[in-house]
Amino acid sequence: NNHLVIMAGGIGSRFWPMSTEERPKQFIDVLGVGRTLIQMTLDRFRGVCPIENVWIVTNERYADLVHEQLPDVPVDHILQEPCRRNTAPCIAYVSWRIKMTDPKAKVVVSPSDHIVTNVDEFRRVITSCLKFAGETDAVVTLGMKPTRPETGYGYIQADLTSNSPRNREIYRVDQFKEKPDLETAKHYISEHNFFWNAGIFVWSVETIVNALRVYAPRINNIFERIQNVMGTPQEQETINKVYPDCDNISIDYAVMENAEEIFVFPADFGWSDLGTWGSLLLQSQRDMYGNGLIGKNIHTFECRNCVVHTTQEKKVILQGLDGYIVAEHDDTLLVCKLSEEQRIKQFQNN
Ligand code: GDD
Ligand code: MG
Repeated sequence: NNHLVIMAGGIGSRFWPMSTEERPKQFIDVLGVGRTLIQMTLDRFRGVCPIENVWIVTNERYADLVHEQLPDVPVDHILQEPCRRNTAPCIAYVSWRIKMTDPKAKVVVSPSDHIVTNVDEFRRVITSCLKFAGETDAVVTLGMKPTRPETGYGYIQADLTSNSPRNREIYRVDQFKEKPDLETAKHYISEHNFFWNAGIFVWSVETIVNALRVYAPRINNIFERIQNVMGTPQEQETINKVYPDCDNISIDYAVMENAEEIFVFPADFGWSDLGTWGSLLLQSQRDMYGNGLIGKNIHTFECRNCVVHTTQEKKVILQGLDGYIVAEHDDTLLVCKLSEEQRIKQFQNN
């Protein structure tokens, strides 16, 4: 059976002040379209995984938000982490939980904060990967064509001569490198066989549990030891006790950089990781001057290439700005040069 895991415990700190620890970006209608990013994520998988096989893993403080925004997901499938330990423990937890219910499960793991413009193609690709993962012991990644030497992503080097006889669109991976430095990223994108990792993974539950056993044994042991409480009334209490002992590491560093049987499906479905204000500007409906204005009451004069995001009724009037972020949220107003957006993390603590 096909299962879907949505990871929704991140805090989206580069998207401040819209994204805050109280309400991270996945729970916000970032594009101003009437659906939050996590709702759009679930919508995207309709027809791929039945709703009774959907799992959300999040921090305990967001469990109510998840239930409010995704009321059709069974409440006992909203798994709660008592603390943040990044994605390797998150995936280990949910994988053991799924394994106890459906040991033959095929699983697609997805971030909660991306957008995809070609949803039909997305469904075709994921369905094809799920089938492949069910027939093999492969870890399948999705490769996106890189357009800039982004250092916040993982890079996948494909062996483009090695497409699988089972699926001509899937290739062996020579190397997986998480978040390279700028020089390395520049070198990668000058080659034709490097892809960005979309952060979406497809595998059978058996495959990922075996990989965790080998490459992340300390994390795996924590959940393997308590497998019998999974799905019982003792689950949450036990998780709360053992979860803090997990190493704080992402699945990319823990498993993907080390695992042997990795495959990639190079795909093009209009993927974007809405990681920063700049990427939101690229994805939003822009006016004839290149401004992305998201909010009800925004008026610009002689402004160009600005991204403006407001959540309140307040009228906002801007004149003469070129290449700025203007973001208003709760009690905070941020005005920052787009070219300096990587510094937003630092600004928050003032
Ligand atoms: N449940 C849970 N718990 N979810 C988490 C946690 C956690 O502790 N930490 C992060 N997440 C969720 C985030 O909400 C997001 O949806 C997803 O896991 C990925 O985490 P990010 O923190 O956004 O990862 P990243 O963007 O630095 O890198 C990943 O995504 C890139 C593509 O966007 C990697 O997989 C890269 O290789 C990839 O290129
Ligand atoms: Mg991300």
